[in-house]
Order: sequence, then C-alpha cells, then structure tokens
Amino acid sequence: MDVRAFDPVPTPVPAGAVDPDLDLEAEILRLKAERKAVILAHFYQEPAIQEIADFVGDSLDLSRRAAATNANVIAFCGVRFMAEVAKILSPEKTVVLPDLRAGCSLEESCPPEAFAEFRARHRDHISLTYVNCSAAVKAHSDIIVTSSNAEAIINQIPKDQPILFAPDRHLGAYLARKTGRDLLLWQGTCVVHERFSERELIKLKARYPEAPVAAHPECPEQILDHADHVGSTSSILAFVKDDPAQTIIIATEPHIIHQMQKASPHKTFIGAPGADGNCSCNMCPFMAMNSMEKLYLCLKNLEPRIELDEATRLAALVPLERMLEMSPLKALPVAAPARISA
Ligand code: 13P
Ligand code: SF4
Repeated sequence: MDVRAFDPVPTPVPAGAVDPDLDLEAEILRLKAERKAVILAHFYQEPAIQEIADFVGDSLDLSRRAAATNANVIAFCGVRFMAEVAKILSPEKTVVLPDLRAGCSLEESCPPEAFAEFRARHRDHISLTYVNCSAAVKAHSDIIVTSSNAEAIINQIPKDQPILFAPDRHLGAYLARKTGRDLLLWQGTCVVHERFSERELIKLKARYPEAPVAAHPECPEQILDHADHVGSTSSILAFVKDDPAQTIIIATEPHIIHQMQKASPHKTFIGAPGADGNCSCNMCPFMAMNSMEKLYLCLKNLEPRIELDEATRLAALVPLERMLEMSPLKALPVAAPARISA
C-alpha cells in the first residue's frame, strides 16, 4: 500500500453543534447514565477518551466486553470494524461510533468481493481472518483471530489443513514464522505500523542500548527482528509493566503510552521513529477521528449507529463465536481506569 496516497478525512463537527462552554466530561457522564450506556475504548484513543471510558482494552478484550455488557447502548471509541464486532455479538444493543469514517487501512485493503474470489480460488484452504476487516469479509471467513489469540488458534488446526490468512501480510508472516505453518497471505498492511523505520530504530537503540523494544506484530519483519517482545496491545502493556528496564522503546501506535505511563510512572517510554526520525507519523489517522466532542454528540443523538443487515451479521457471527470458543481462557481484564459500570 502506498502510504503517501493515504489521507483519510474525518467527519467534521457541524458548526454550533457543541457549545464551547460545555463541560464535555460532565455532559458525557450525564448522557451515559441517562442512556444506560457503556463507553468502550481502544488503547489507541486520545488520553481524554481513555480516561472517561468504562473499559479500555485490545480488540479481543473489547469484543468480550461488548458481548458481556448489560448496557442498552455501547459507545465504541475505536474504529468501525471494532464497533461492528460489538453489534454482531450484541445485536439488541444500540452501538454508536463517534465518527463513522473511522475505518482501518487493513479493512480497506480487503474488499469483500475480492476476498470471496480469493477464497473461491483456494477452496481447500480454511480462512483465518484477522478481526481488522469488515463484517462482510468476516461473513466469508471460517475463524476470526486477533493478534492476541492467533497463534493459539493456528496451533489447534490440524497440520495438514492448508490455511489462508487475511488481510495483514506482516501479522500473517509473523504467525507463519512462529508456528512453522505455510500460510497463504492476503497482501494488506497497517498504514501505521508500516511506517516505522528500521534505520531510525537502529539509531535509537544505539542511543539507548539498555532499552528493550516492544512491538506489535503488524510491524514489518525488519522491525520485529529488533524486538524483545512482540504481542497485541495488552500483551505489550503487560510486558512493559513487568520488565525491569526503566526505558523501553514502543513500536506501536503511541497513544498506548498513556496507559504505560499510568501503570509505571517512573519509567520512560519512547515511541519508535518513522523515517523522519520522530514518531508523530505513526499515529493512527482513523483512531484520531474520534474526539470528546464527537463522543458527546453520539451519546446525545444516538448517531452515527452501526447497522448491519441480518444475513451478514449472522454469517459473521459464526467465525467470531469460533474465535471466542478457541481463544485461551483468560479472565476479563480489569478496566484501565477502574470505572466499570455496565
Ligand atoms: P490489538 O488487538 O493488539 O489491540 O490491535 C488492534 C489494532 O488495530 C492494532 O493496530
Ligand atoms: Fe487499522 Fe493500523 Fe489503525 Fe490498527 S493502527 S486501526 S490496524 S490502521
């Protein structure tokens, strides 16, 4: 994917829609109670959103939390495929996403029709599909995986069963190396993790020789080769909390550093650099479309909503439920800001 040609445009907040004197945090909390809503947020959201959320987690934790909540409304502060998972698992609930344009480059790389053709060309393969895809692609898949359960799920599939993996070729290649399986890969990439620069990372490591590197498996192999720990966002958080190192280099979206700093205030976290030597280019442009203003508006208006046609939802539910059944059991983690209310 040509990252230079990639410039997603957020939905503008209409002029006058939010009174500039409003206490946004107080209003969000008031509307949340009025709507009997729960606010779920991914670690890549801006700190203010992470702080007001009832639960902050990785993709797997968030889907489990969405399936388990008693709330009437789920305000999902993440990207569209994550909110769609909440709707697939909890169809009776109203699921709102602050900005409906908050997509994902992996989702965009994998149009459902092209994916269906790919599957048709490889009928003997089962499809393990990364959760970062549309509901329509999930509907064409056999098992959904996230970065935190993919390896364990592959290891449950008989060795002689051919597997295709979509849409992230870097995660797929990493899993092939880890499991020793020959995975047929769709060629999508994450526009954020693709931008880390190996040359700049080597320079940074030379400046901080004691600092381990923690990386998300959506990074290309040449970045993962320098990593001391590779894992999902929650797994990276657990690593940096437990590791004795006082300075740690983080090769994933830098908003996650907010939780790291909260858990380990005396440690120093340095975002891995992009080609220009700083890490600001590694912020996810889709996650950044959500804002406190848009969270307030979506709780006020109960729009924009995630709506799925029932046939797609039911077809996508099958591989998602397989994922939940095949995921190693772990207790649902405690919300990062301890505010679980629904
Ligand atoms: P996690 O499941 O590790 O949170 O990853 C989601 C994601 O979109 C990473 O770019
Ligand atoms: Fe998609 Fe990458 Fe953003 Fe994650 S960080 S939501 S994979 S574009």
